[in-house]
Amino acid sequence: MLPSTRCDPSSAWNCAPYHRGVKLLSVVGARPQFVKLAPIANAAAAAGVEHVIVHTGQHYDPMLSDVFFRDLGIPDPDVHLGVGSGSHGVQTGAILGALDAVFDEHRPDWVLAYGDTNSTLAAAVAAVKMHFPLAHLEAGLRSFNRRMPEEHNRVLTDHAADLCLAPTEVAMGHLADEGLAQRSVLVGDVMTDVLYQVRDAAADREVPLLGELGLARHEFYVATLHRAENTDDPARLDSIVEALAGLDRPLVLLAHPRVVAKAAEHGIDLNRGTVRVHAPLAYPDLVAAVLASAGVVTDSGGLQKEAFLLRVPCTTVRPETEWVETVALGWNVLAQTADEIRAAVTRPAPVPTDEAPYGDGDAASRVISVLVNSAR
Ligand code: UD1
Repeated sequence: MLPSTRCDPSSAWNCAPYHRGVKLLSVVGARPQFVKLAPIANAAAAAGVEHVIVHTGQHYDPMLSDVFFRDLGIPDPDVHLGVGSGSHGVQTGAILGALDAVFDEHRPDWVLAYGDTNSTLAAAVAAVKMHFPLAHLEAGLRSFNRRMPEEHNRVLTDHAADLCLAPTEVAMGHLADEGLAQRSVLVGDVMTDVLYQVRDAAADREVPLLGELGLARHEFYVATLHRAENTDDPARLDSIVEALAGLDRPLVLLAHPRVVAKAAEHGIDLNRGTVRVHAPLAYPDLVAAVLASAGVVTDSGGLQKEAFLLRVPCTTVRPETEWVETVALGWNVLAQTADEIRAAVTRPAPVPTDEAPYGDGDAASRVISVLVNSAR
């Protein structure tokens, strides 16, 4: 039994009607954080909550940043730190150093940190050092893989936070196991909010990828690959690409700059066999492409879950996942070796399910409600 605090009227963190005068400051920097910011910005505006958006500049390519603000209707950032790329210490430190003055100027009632990137950790450390209340969105996810930079970012942020906003029951369980139950609330998954909205809007949308690459609906796979564990070791990257190159259908690799840079550095040809390399897509185009595909291959956290929510089979090129529900329900298979990847991608269709472990698409309004009602 989980000792969870739920977002319901009888709980300590209740969902009573909003009151005004609360100032929220969001710190975002990388692509998946912009997706999470979209429903939060909407819900904050709907509730009349003042919302300051700080973009760290961790991601700066237009296809990894600007298009998300444009397509998801997110207001332009109030502050842009422009830190850019760097080693973990350099990047995290640059954000941390720059945030002091921003927090001091805006003096928020809540600093909201998103997910598990270096921008998340820097926001958390800056907030607690300056005694600003810190809330962590997407709290409690664990891979238990201490080689992953994101695992450290999320564990440290959860333990620094005054309020852990968890997406799932499993995440609430992890928070309880680490002694954080009293500051944890199950709000649901905000990526589900935005995905459902974009999916409904994309129902009759053309899929530019089909015409551009001459692909037939449901006769191709969509892939993304960006994690250091998969891209930075040349032998590992080569074996993954070799597996993707020998499939039964074309596979469109939506190539993150990191995988392009690493492949070039090590002389690895990404464009071989069934693989077709393509630039990353804007979010609505990605959703439309996944819906039109026969399956997804990825090492992204968000895309595994999006594939499940769209009921498209997924193969995750990692030894573990934080979104364990997708695996338990049969829609996601973890695969590490080239043989495992090929077998997983071409496996029979999963059993249909109506389970909704990621909520009902209304998490962002619960987040705002909890923040407003627990502001000091
Ligand atoms: C970061 C997050 C990861 C998240 C991912 C989403 C960390 C530790 N990792 O990984 O959790 O899943 O974002 O994409 O915070 N680059 C560009 N243009 C950009 C941004 C990056 O070319 O706009 C290149 C640079 O060579 C850079 C490399 O990509 O060094 C890696 O970028 P970085 O932000 O450090 O990590 P990601 O791999 O994007």
